[in-house]
Amino acid sequence: MAKQMMMPPDDLASRWEYTNKIRLWNQECVSQRKVFVQTFGCQQNEADSEKYLGMAVSMGYKATDTPDNADLIIVNTCAIREHAEKKALSIIGQYKHIKAKNKDLIIGVCGCMVAQEHRREELKMKYPYVTFTLGTASLHHLPRVLWEAIESKKRLITTDSDVDFTETVAEGMPVRRGSDYRAWVSIMYGCNNFCSYCIVPYVRGRERSRKKEDIIAEVKALVAEGYKDITLLGQNVNSYGKGTDTDFADLLAELDTVEGDFWLRFMTSHPKDASHKLIDVMAGGKHIAHQFHLPLQSGNDAVLKAMNRHYDMNRYMDSIHYMREKMPGITVTSDIIVGFPGETEDQFEDTLTALKEVQFDMLYSFIYSPRKGTPAAEKEQIPDTVKGNRFDRLLATQNEIAKEKNLLLQDQILRVLCDGVSKGDPGVYSGRTEGNKIVFFKGTPDMVGQFVNVKIDKTEAFALWGEIEKT
Ligand code: SAH
Ligand code: SF4
Ligand code: F3S
Repeated sequence: MAKQMMMPPDDLASRWEYTNKIRLWNQECVSQRKVFVQTFGCQQNEADSEKYLGMAVSMGYKATDTPDNADLIIVNTCAIREHAEKKALSIIGQYKHIKAKNKDLIIGVCGCMVAQEHRREELKMKYPYVTFTLGTASLHHLPRVLWEAIESKKRLITTDSDVDFTETVAEGMPVRRGSDYRAWVSIMYGCNNFCSYCIVPYVRGRERSRKKEDIIAEVKALVAEGYKDITLLGQNVNSYGKGTDTDFADLLAELDTVEGDFWLRFMTSHPKDASHKLIDVMAGGKHIAHQFHLPLQSGNDAVLKAMNRHYDMNRYMDSIHYMREKMPGITVTSDIIVGFPGETEDQFEDTLTALKEVQFDMLYSFIYSPRKGTPAAEKEQIPDTVKGNRFDRLLATQNEIAKEKNLLLQDQILRVLCDGVSKGDPGVYSGRTEGNKIVFFKGTPDMVGQFVNVKIDKTEAFALWGEIEKT
């Protein structure tokens, strides 16, 4: 099918031209126009939203934390499970009332959900107050698309033009970060793995890595600004640099030489790319957090094969043993899907056995959700009641493991990056450990955004408690 509208080649100059046009248009407005960004989905989307907000602010909008008084609403959507899409559509539905009060309101729906044609069609037909859509690979085109919408007063729900995955990685977008001590740094985009259940390769396109120099410059600048917890992001972060003369372990080793007091983490890794070289770099690093999120998905080899994961339990356990040998005390977390089509009771029990064997510190568990266009969605599905029952058993098993793992931290003094006052109790502060575990302690306002030492005196499956240890 011919493209309805061709993307102009991306160059920074044309982006700034549109940015300036909108800035001038905004300056003519008596009261400053406001932008609200609503984010669903993973850290990658959060990082993208910081760019949407950064671009909008550079176009003269003022950030607002409520959609009610916004002149521009950007909804950054997720498509990973049906629930994520339903939630986004329901929120978009609520914006109808805001549009009714402000006819000049511009609503842009961006992110993974709108990379699917059937969802764009749905937005076009059933959500007439949505102004434009923008795919994940085209976020840097926001100024142009927004200007076209303002000028033409037309809706720009394009069929395929806003998803161009062949583009090179765009640099130079302004970023409005949500924190001044924790930062996301996207280092690669897209995914080539096509796990049979997953929509990501279809909505985020093929793997593209940023240039090493650009990443190093960004991390150096963040550390110089005082950022203390930097997370490198990618759908398949450890396949960074494939097809070039560098790899993820090399990048990490180089970033580790940046001077300063900070933690460096990364997510999400694919077990097939979790090399010994990477683990060696982590173990020898100065700043690299001893934390590994390594999604297992299932503990049964036949299910892993049907999921197209390209590793088996042997390969997975080799990585776990090697990282624990090199970094005793490392925090290991994972993702599991229950109810994948065809998963038998015995195969599910293999997953429970794997959990007991690996002893994850924490688990993100998901009930399989069929995704239109993926191979697994075509298979015969498992009844919801069976899925629900397996999910409950998975949680119960993991709960016991997490409790035992955290008990090992009793009486230890842990370095914690303080986030602020915990909800509910003004004297109690919370923070995160190197392993990303949440800790509660009595603190003071000056501790926010700083490292503190906390002696752990109570532990549960999902949190730790302690007292500040004066040095
Ligand atoms: N790139 C990452 C994960 C991205 S999605 C990786 O490969 O590990 C995050 C998690 O969502 C996945 O690890 C998987 O456990 C879960 N997930 C993905 N597709 C799903 C689906 N269709 N139904 C339920 N869970 C899913
Ligand atoms: Fe999805 Fe698999 Fe790619 Fe992760 S590696 S994003 S689960 S296709
Ligand atoms: Fe969702 Fe897209 Fe992330 S589908 S999980 S927001 S990559």
